[in-house]
Amino acid sequence: MGKSLSNLLHENRRFEPPADLAANANATAETYAVASEDRLAFWADAARRLDWDKPFTEVLDWSTPPFAKWFADGTLNASYNCVDRHVEAGRGDKVAFHWVGEPADDTRTLTYAELQDEVSKAANAIEELGVEAGDRVAIYMPMIPEAVVSMLACARIGAVHTVVFGGFSADALASRIVDCGAKLVITADGGYRRGAPSALKPAVDEAVAKVEAEQSGLVENVLVVRRTGQDVAWNTDVDVWWHEVVDESSTDHKPKAFPAEHPLYVMYTSGTTGKPKGILHTTGGYLTQAAWTHSAVFDLKPETDVYWCTADIGWVTGHSYIVYGPLANGATQVLYEGTPDSPHKGRWWEIIQNYGVTIFYTAPTAIRTFMKWGAEIPAEYDLSTLRVLGSVGEPINPEAYVWYRETIGGGRTPVVDTWWQTETGAIMISPLPGVTAAKPGSAMTPIPGISADVVNDEAEPVPNGSGGYLVLTEPWPSMLRTLWGDDQRFIDTYWSRFEGIYFAGDGAKKDEDGDIWLLGRVDDVMNVSGHRLSTTEIESALVSHPKVAEAAVVGAADDTTGQAVVAFVILRESAGDGGEEIVADLRAHVAKEIGAIAKPKSIMVVAELPKTRSGKIMRRLLRDVAENRQVGDVTTLADSGVMDQIKTGMDSSS
Ligand code: WTA
Repeated sequence: MGKSLSNLLHENRRFEPPADLAANANATAETYAVASEDRLAFWADAARRLDWDKPFTEVLDWSTPPFAKWFADGTLNASYNCVDRHVEAGRGDKVAFHWVGEPADDTRTLTYAELQDEVSKAANAIEELGVEAGDRVAIYMPMIPEAVVSMLACARIGAVHTVVFGGFSADALASRIVDCGAKLVITADGGYRRGAPSALKPAVDEAVAKVEAEQSGLVENVLVVRRTGQDVAWNTDVDVWWHEVVDESSTDHKPKAFPAEHPLYVMYTSGTTGKPKGILHTTGGYLTQAAWTHSAVFDLKPETDVYWCTADIGWVTGHSYIVYGPLANGATQVLYEGTPDSPHKGRWWEIIQNYGVTIFYTAPTAIRTFMKWGAEIPAEYDLSTLRVLGSVGEPINPEAYVWYRETIGGGRTPVVDTWWQTETGAIMISPLPGVTAAKPGSAMTPIPGISADVVNDEAEPVPNGSGGYLVLTEPWPSMLRTLWGDDQRFIDTYWSRFEGIYFAGDGAKKDEDGDIWLLGRVDDVMNVSGHRLSTTEIESALVSHPKVAEAAVVGAADDTTGQAVVAFVILRESAGDGGEEIVADLRAHVAKEIGAIAKPKSIMVVAELPKTRSGKIMRRLLRDVAENRQVGDVTTLADSGVMDQIKTGMDSSS
């Protein structure tokens, strides 16, 4: 992979931290030194930023790897740490959430004191419905305050929540309910999407019927928030209205302390094969790392910052960086229900302007969409309050990174490219905004207290300037503890590829300075004529062409070369239809950027790319098209019509 590596690493722009941010930063160069001196003492200090009912005496128990215990003899309550302690410290009037509904002017403000009341009422209500510590509760909701309240109410009574993204199908919901054995489902009649009510309750009804057929009596109740007011079918045996049971409950609820290793939540994520994996996170270590990283990586100043993470709470990013990390830190946040283009394409920038957002955390796919829409749109808004920008979810191409920094951040703001996974629970590799001279496209180095490396097939660390597999070499506080009900799959998936170390499933490179560049999942690495090529790298080259807004690259089976590079591109609006020369133009451009070996064998100009609801491009489906196969399962696509459009385009162009 030598040649392609040297090309990605041609990127030599550096962005130094702004002097005023560096001078007052929560984490400094000293922080790295302290953590490397004594990693466990460092995490113990981070844990002491939380309120413990009974202080822990042991930091890490790694006597039965890969099953870690952190802070095991300590007890605490996650909900108390996220809510009550701020009220008790006299910050009850501080805004926890500026909630922005999708319909314009549908807004609501919740202070920490109000959040405490809401969470307490919900905790009383779900206890009344028979939910006890250790029971599982499925949450299937739009982005409304009650979603956060539900999660915190579960945590408060020691129930284990599993949030299922509201865009998932009834089948997906049913299989998750069965897998973790949830006795309560919390949902809403619907939510708003692109200006119209979108029903949720019918999917729950269908899921519950399915579960009932499989395991009768499992789901005892469905608790329903009235959000849209649309008609819903009602089963009086199980269904209860939120406004009838929660609103009537007492605002007094005493949180009980649980051991640090008490399960907090299960989050399902897709593996390489069919059945989703139930990632289990526990309380003390998870909350420690979520809170610490949120403070250090975003440099959160709770008194003055307004923080906005655009993720849905149905994903781990919403768990760690909307609910647990920011609330444990007492942050003031924006919580937005809708899509970026409703009712207009400037909605996000308008929200930043209206609420004076200072820290903004989103995904590369969103950034590239905004690039496609054009810089004129954000230019209409005052974004001068922004001081730190974050990116998560996939590698960010240098072009998108620089656009984000310049166009949204006005050239002032550090961009923190944060690498982590559902499994890691919290940020692992990222620049620190007051310390790192960041390189666009690189997640840079492990944060203080974290040990990561890039290794070859023999688990040996690769030298600087080489690529391999990303691994985590020491246990970390917010690591997954197992897969729900499947210890063996936990061991097989993460701990068997390399003896005793965690295999993340991502390819990565170390540059000449030892900084880390993520290359995408290892299954997205191609082998063309014996050369290893990264889909990310070729996509990055394509996106650096002025006419390209977005690109997806797959390796398609090829008789001669093993795999061939096939690219799907979306052109920028300003490029028109690109004309006939565009394909030749782009092939030459990739050859110039990376080398002839990376030149796509074919390039398809498309209007949309197939994406999951969390915005990940489903390359598997594109590979099906590229290899002339029947297109596989499209049920997790945000828009299932996209594949038809692409195939039709393909047929008419061949
Ligand atoms: C990818 C999301 C490059 C990676 C928090 C990882 C990234 C997977 C980055 C986890 C990043 C996430 N740079 N790749 N900054 N962040 N990824 O579980 O492939 O939805 O393994 O967690 O996303 O996705 P997940």
